[in-house]
Amino acid sequence: MEKIVPKPSIYYPDFIASNQENRANNLIPGKSKKAHLEHIRKDIREFKDKHGLEAVIVLWTANTERYTEVQSGLNLTAEEVLASIDSNKEEISPSNIFAVASILEGAHYINGSPQNTLVPGIVVLAEKKGVFIGGDDFKSGQTKIKSALAEFLVNSGLKPESIVSYNHLGNNDGKNLSEARQFRSKEISKSSVVDDMVASNQILYPDGKKPDHVVVIKYVPFVGDSKRAMDEYVCSIFMGGLQTIAMHNTCEDSLLATPLILDLTIITELCSRIKYTSPSNDGKFESFNSVLSLLSLLLKAPVVPQGTPVTNAFNRQLSSITKLLTVCAGISSDNDLQLEFFTKL
Ligand SMILES: NC(=O)c1ccc[n+]([C@@H]2O[C@H](COP(=O)([O-])OP(=O)(O)OC[C@H]3O[C@@H](n4cnc5c(N)ncnc54)[C@H](O)[C@@H]3O)[C@@H](O)[C@H]2O)c1
Repeated sequence: MEKIVPKPSIYYPDFIASNQENRANNLIPGKSKKAHLEHIRKDIREFKDKHGLEAVIVLWTANTERYTEVQSGLNLTAEEVLASIDSNKEEISPSNIFAVASILEGAHYINGSPQNTLVPGIVVLAEKKGVFIGGDDFKSGQTKIKSALAEFLVNSGLKPESIVSYNHLGNNDGKNLSEARQFRSKEISKSSVVDDMVASNQILYPDGKKPDHVVVIKYVPFVGDSKRAMDEYVCSIFMGGLQTIAMHNTCEDSLLATPLILDLTIITELCSRIKYTSPSNDGKFESFNSVLSLLSLLLKAPVVPQGTPVTNAFNRQLSSITKLLTVCAGISSDNDLQLEFFTKL
């Protein structure tokens, strides 16, 4: 990758940690957000033409930004987002500009970081333009295991009461996350991961009270990309007893994230070629919803179409992709009933 020269980009210092300032050395000139939007749009068009592509997919894997405000007059509708860019509003983040540029160019947009780039107005814009959007935040290490382990515990009838997750890492992501507002974006994306599993079992959680769930991240330069994730799960078991699981996980951050980047891109492109119909819409073929929740398996805090459930449970997410692919390929679905082994049929 040494030979790849990145294109200049946008730097609005308020959105990423102040310790990133000396890296911002390849910038699109000027302070006009409208001009930045046009510049990124032109880059996408030129990239598409230069390589003779049918489709472009833009995936954000730049620094974690702080959350942006979500409010009326700023970004609740597509018109508000475009007007806010035109009038250079402070709360329009670099990732907002990239998402809008992509959507306006018909390029699907995926958010691999935890910030709330996909504000309501950007979701509406994607729907209007028929472009896919997906997010948020790659599910690569600690959270990936959590989304499988919590599902296993709850489905086994062991009741997670507290989940405490501690990380330290020493790469530039860790440096950026060492400031409070960027850490807060990550804390939010890591926090909701067990909610659907709790909600799915009203016998274990009759009052819906969630387990105590704490996430800590510390910057320790020496460990570099080898992020350490330590987790303690305490579960209530039979007769009020407790079971404690403690885990130490060395996550090679980039090596875990890169295959997710490839899979997110490949699955998104594949979905752009799938059309479906049903008897109720007169044989008319349609694309999936613009908010591509099928990508949830690969993301920590899945963005889903309004009014549809968020699924974090790993096996349910995996099943959704494998079942879709078997349907598309015309292969009969796996039958986990195993009737042939325990009957005399
Ligand atoms: N396992 C993983 O690596 C993993 C997992 C989940 C999420 N993420 C998220 O992916 C993102 C990238 O992680 P990383 O470890 O590669 O971080 P990194 O800090 O090593 O790389 C991010 C790069 O983006 C550049 N950048 C910042 N703002 C930019 C902008 N506006 N335009 C263009 N470039 C910009 C930075 O200078 C830096 O070179 C982070 O948000 C991280 O939280 C990573």
